[in-house]
Amino acid sequence: MHSFVYRANALLTFAVMVLAFMCAMASLSDNLNSLSPSAQLQVLNVNWFQKSTQGNDEVSMTLNISANLQSLFTWNTKQVFAFLTAEYETPKNSLNQVSLWDGIIPSKEHAKFSIHTTNKYRFTDQGCNLLGKQYNLTLHWHVMPKTGKMFADKLVMTGFRLPEEYR
Ligand SMILES: *[C@@H]1O[C@H](CO)[C@@H](O)[C@H](O)[C@H]1NC(C)=O
Ligand SMILES: *[C@@H]1O[C@H](CO)[C@@H](O)[C@H](O)[C@H]1NC(C)=O
Repeated sequence: MHSFVYRANALLTFAVMVLAFMCAMASLSDNLNSLSPSAQLQVLNVNWFQKSTQGNDEVSMTLNISANLQSLFTWNTKQVFAFLTAEYETPKNSLNQVSLWDGIIPSKEHAKFSIHTTNKYRFTDQGCNLLGKQYNLTLHWHVMPKTGKMFADKLVMTGFRLPEEYR
């Protein structure tokens, strides 16, 4: 009898230890997989680039938006709103922000994606400042929690440049 209780107890202790170890490994591998959000943004093509009759430059481009935002999802995450902006400087404004694409990410499974798209919203300047213009592409995200405060962050990719001529 004594030996049976002892053995059962030893077995239980061992099971708890294995469970604890597996939990530790699971959370460790979770962290290793995605320490922080990452993104790769590519301009695959400038489809056309022209000045409208009102004198405003407008560009149509094909983008490759790849991101892994899975680390933003926890038990408390309802959804993530992501959007991409082109950001550039003009003599009038130190920061011009033009939204090119957006999307709602409903779950962690959808938070790793690669999208091949033309700009969903018009890339138009308030004037004709875009020839040869250097710009950044910034992926912004707003994390909407089930309870608590929303938070926002972004990733900036620098060094993009528009063509020197209309096409
Ligand atoms: C889009 O970018 C991803 C990640 O950089 C790359 O694996 C994929 O081949 C790209 N797709 C195209 C069509 O260039
Ligand atoms: C582009 O990004 C770089 C690095 O974050 C920053 O120094 C620069 O001011 C940005 N340019 C614009 C126009 O926002």
